[in-house]
Amino acid sequence: MSDTQQERYLVTGATGAQGGAVLKLLSERGREVVGLARHTATPHDGAIVRTVDLADREGLCRAFEGVTRVAAGLPLVYDMEMASAYAANLVHAAERAGVRRLVLNTNLPVPSKPTGYPAFETRRIAEETLRSSGLPITVLRPPLYLDNLFGPGHAPALVNDGVLAFPLPNSLPVSWMSLDDMAAATVAALDGADELVGSALPVGGPEAVTGPRLAELFARELGREVTFHAMAPGDFEAAVGAIMGPELGAGIAGGYHWAWASAGEDAFTADPVAVEKHLGIRLTPLRRWIAAQPWSRWARPAD
Ligand SMILES: NC(=O)c1ccc[n+]([C@@H]2O[C@H](COP(=O)([O-])OP(=O)(O)OC[C@H]3O[C@@H](n4cnc5c(N)ncnc54)[C@H](OP(=O)(O)O)[C@@H]3O)[C@@H](O)[C@H]2O)c1
Repeated sequence: MSDTQQERYLVTGATGAQGGAVLKLLSERGREVVGLARHTATPHDGAIVRTVDLADREGLCRAFEGVTRVAAGLPLVYDMEMASAYAANLVHAAERAGVRRLVLNTNLPVPSKPTGYPAFETRRIAEETLRSSGLPITVLRPPLYLDNLFGPGHAPALVNDGVLAFPLPNSLPVSWMSLDDMAAATVAALDGADELVGSALPVGGPEAVTGPRLAELFARELGREVTFHAMAPGDFEAAVGAIMGPELGAGIAGGYHWAWASAGEDAFTADPVAVEKHLGIRLTPLRRWIAAQPWSRWARPAD
């Protein structure tokens, strides 16, 4: 364990969903923390944000000055060279700063064998680049975030129509995890025992459930009928592509194409007992997470 008074933390993707949750938790715990993003220089959740692109190696070195612990992840990038360069730049900056612990969030699972899909392979190459560097690295591989379901792509249909639509087959179990639990896991790994260094832990929530089972839990908490709709990944890709462009649509949907083609190969589940034991955290039960969200925000106004 570290004396946290002596530490300065840096969080990449600090204005995004995953990095933002880590930045917030570190700030709440009174740690000295700086965020990193390209566009926002205004303080965020009580922390300074340094503006730099992960592609800018020297800029990254300047941002890392005085930093001892780093929570890193990749942004929405599905280009292998770019992902590889971002990871190499993180290694370079962390080595220069003499970082004592770097926790990489792979953003998604990393299946055991190559998949051919950049959604996973960009993460695999980033993980390999960091782990082969010799730096004190811990890798956390999350499954899918529950918070996706509270977003505009899913929540309105859930709340108003009782449809939980997601591009996964009916039979695939997923250890859905909240962003807050992932932030707690990240901070635990940043501060945790030296035995965590060198490990790559699949993390996840306390229960692995199929889509239909998740719909049952939603039905109970929302007090209405909810059915799971296993969206075809091609339809999901078209819907995301219409909003974010075809390239990002294909990148994001790739993970779901693989999940359908391979039946997931257990990649989306994690052992909750191991997660709680290794990281010393308590995972949030699915029902408690569902009950805590302000779902009425998405209710369609009555005519
Ligand atoms: N497992 C899941 O359920 C799940 C859910 C959502 C996303 N993801 C994955 O997580 C990854 C990140 O997505 P996200 O939705 O979390 O992203 P996000 O919320 O949009 O956040 C991205 C963050 O990174 C920063 N950023 C982007 N490009 C950067 C660059 N070149 N250099 C430095 N900072 C940069 C952004 O700020 P600036 O734009 O100001 O730089 C922002 O702070 C994606 O691979 C996505 O597929 C997984």
